[in-house]
Parts: sequence; structure tokens; C-alpha cells
Amino acid sequence: MAQKDKSAVYDGPPDYRVVGRHGVYPEVSHDEAARFNFLAQMNRYLSKQLMPGVAEAFEARVRPAFEAAEGREFANRHEVRKALAKDPAWQWWSALRRATMESRQQAGRWTTIRQAEELADKVRELTEGDDRLELDPCFEQPRSTAAIDHHCMPGSYYTELFPGDVSGAANYDIGIFATTGGMLGRFNDGGGVAVAQWVKQNLPDFAPKRILDLGCGLGHNVLPIAAAFPDAEVIGIDAGAPMLRYGLARAKSMGIENVRFIQGDVSRLDRFEDESFDWIQSTMFLHETSYKLMPMIFRETRRLLRPGGIVLHVEQPQYTEDMSLFEQAMRDWDAFYNNEPFWTKMHEIDLDQWMEDAGFGHNTLIHGGVAAVVDPEVFPEAAKDEGQEDYGRKAAWHVIGARKAA
Ligand SMILES: C[S@@+](CC[C@H](N)C(=O)[O-])C[C@H]1O[C@@H](n2cnc3c(N)ncnc32)[C@H](O)[C@@H]1O
Repeated sequence: MAQKDKSAVYDGPPDYRVVGRHGVYPEVSHDEAARFNFLAQMNRYLSKQLMPGVAEAFEARVRPAFEAAEGREFANRHEVRKALAKDPAWQWWSALRRATMESRQQAGRWTTIRQAEELADKVRELTEGDDRLELDPCFEQPRSTAAIDHHCMPGSYYTELFPGDVSGAANYDIGIFATTGGMLGRFNDGGGVAVAQWVKQNLPDFAPKRILDLGCGLGHNVLPIAAAFPDAEVIGIDAGAPMLRYGLARAKSMGIENVRFIQGDVSRLDRFEDESFDWIQSTMFLHETSYKLMPMIFRETRRLLRPGGIVLHVEQPQYTEDMSLFEQAMRDWDAFYNNEPFWTKMHEIDLDQWMEDAGFGHNTLIHGGVAAVVDPEVFPEAAKDEGQEDYGRKAAWHVIGARKAA
């Protein structure tokens, strides 16, 4: 029997047209989808084809040159990053990675701005008078959310071009497919699906009645948790009004009714009573939180948890001694070239120690790992590809948490 030619098996991202379209999903034309397809392919090419070349150049040129000049090995990731930045292999990879991010933002922006009024009307129709949306017209953005356009996203998470505008949130929704090479599933909820499964498997007797999601954004990862625990009251809190408006409209249009979306600063949660939640969750949130706010957030979560309750933070892995300095420097790229200023510091801290400093007992700490759970029919490559690493974009995360003593 003829051998199957493996080189002929397509292993790229799925076509953009597989994305799940909910009731407020923007219209994405043929040409706009083609643009996202190009960017998803390009990101996959950068991680699978160019990235290994950067690793080879590091070993062949960058490390030997540094050691010859300095007479010693690299001492930390910052030295590696600065040395890499002088090498043409890294320069190509870095410039293209930045260009795909800029292009992804502009592609999404063109698409959503041309239909901004219609989107705002649809969202208004679904959310007006609904007390599950609590916006605060006097809310002042914390400096950490206002001072920078996170990952090159114009206006970041909070800017409104007119009252009721949701185009920034819609842009985030339609373009995340391109950034991740289509690895998060139809509804970009593979992380949340995985967390809900992890909790059910690891804590089979846990039956949360009240769940708080910190930095919920437009709800990509809190909706699967709400769906998995339909009897729970779920509250998502976020600083960005457009994300929250769009989030409630999206949730309702998907038939998920047990989530409230509240505007607030997660380092000031005094609106909630002590011991009033069974589960506090954050997903891909800590790296967008300032070093200053993090201890306050950790202390607040402890105050808010009921005895026996859990807190889980889902993030890209910390920089530990087990991680090579090359990998740490590559992961730090987002901090220096993708407007993620908190990324580098956040990933170097000892999260266990910070949790203990917030009052969680050492023996109550939870550690785990989750990989996006996605529809294998549509995302075969994402579902099986354990080997692909994209230093900060891989659809697999670490879990650090705690269970408050009962
Ligand atoms: C990367 S997004 C993550 C969204 C969401 N957790 C998810 O899984 O899709 C980070 C979110 O955190 C929010 N955020 C950052 N700092 C915040 C703060 N201090 N208070 C409230 N929200 C904050 C931002 O507005 C943004 O929507």
C-alpha cells in the first residue's frame, strides 16, 4: 500500500469562516476574512518556521559572540534579549511579528468602524434596561489600563468613539483568531472550556453558587464557565465599558443568561462583601495588571472567598530556573515590542510567595496546567499539536491558585 505523503497534509490554521458568529458578531466580508486568514497563516509561519531559525542563530552566533566578548555566560534574560536584538534572524522574526500585530489591529478596526453604528444599535437593543449590565459613568480608568494601547490595540479596552460605541470590543473579538493562528476555538473560548473541565475533574464535589471573573473582557472565557455551572450566579468585572456592553449582548445572543457584567477596578472590590464568592477566576489577566495592583488584587480575592472557595489564575508560564534564558528572552518580546509593559515583571515574580503574602496557606496552593479545548473536527492541528511553541501565544497555560481553608 502506498505510504501517505505527510508533507501533503495541511497543518495550518483553519479557515476564518469557521469562527462562531453570535448575534452581535460584526459582518466580516470575503476580503476581510481573507486578510485575517493571511495574518493567521503568517503568525503560524513565524512560530513554526522562523522561530526555530532564531533559536539556531542564538546557539550558532549570538551566544558564542557574547561569551567571546564578555568571557562569561549570559547572566539573565535581559542580556540575552539585548544580544538577540543585534542578530538578523531575530530582527526578521521580530519585525514580522510586530507587523502582523499592527496589521491585525488595523484589519479589525477597518471592519468594525465601518459598521460601528449598527453594532452599537444591536448591542443597545439587547442590553438596554437589563440590570445585568452595570456601567459607572464616573469610572476613572486605572493608570494601568489607560496609559497604553495594550498589544497595539488603538484605544485599548476602554475607548469609545461615540456614546455606546463597541467597535473596540468587536475588533478584539474578530481578530483574536489571527493573533493566535486560530487556536482558541470557534468562540475563542478554548481556555475557559478547559478551566471548567479542569475544575470538574479535579474538584468533583465543588458546586459553586457565586463566581467572580476578574478582568473578564468581553467574556470569551467566562461564558464557558457560566455554561458549565448553570446554577451559579457569575459576575464578570472589567474596567472597559465597551467590552462589558458587547459582552452582555454577546452572552444573551448565545443563550447564556447567568452572567452579570460590572464595570470596576479589580484592585478595589469593596462593593462585594467578605466571603461572598465560591470561586474567583482570572484568565490571561494578570499580565495586564500592574506590579503595584497585584498584591491588592490577591488580598482582595482572599477577603472575598468563602471558606472552601477557590481562586484560580490562568496565565502563560512564569520564568523559573527551569526555563532557559533564551526562552525567557523570547517570551519577554511582548513587553518590549507589543505594548505589554507589565508582562516582564509579572512573569518573574514568585506567585506562590505572593499568594502566601496575601494570606493563603502554603498547603492550600493549587498548581495545574490547561490547554485550550477546541472542536477537533474544525481545529485538528490545534487539538493535537503539543509541540508548537509560540512563546506567549500558545493556547496552553499554567494555573496558580488556592483553596481557602474551610
Ligand atoms: C487580556 S484581557 C483578558 C480578557 C478575559 N479574561 C479573557 O479571557 O478573554 C484583560 C482585561 O483586563 C481588564 N483589566 C486590566 N486591568 C484591570 C483593572 N485594574 N480593573 C479591571 N479590569 C482590568 C482589561 O480591561 C481587559 O479587558
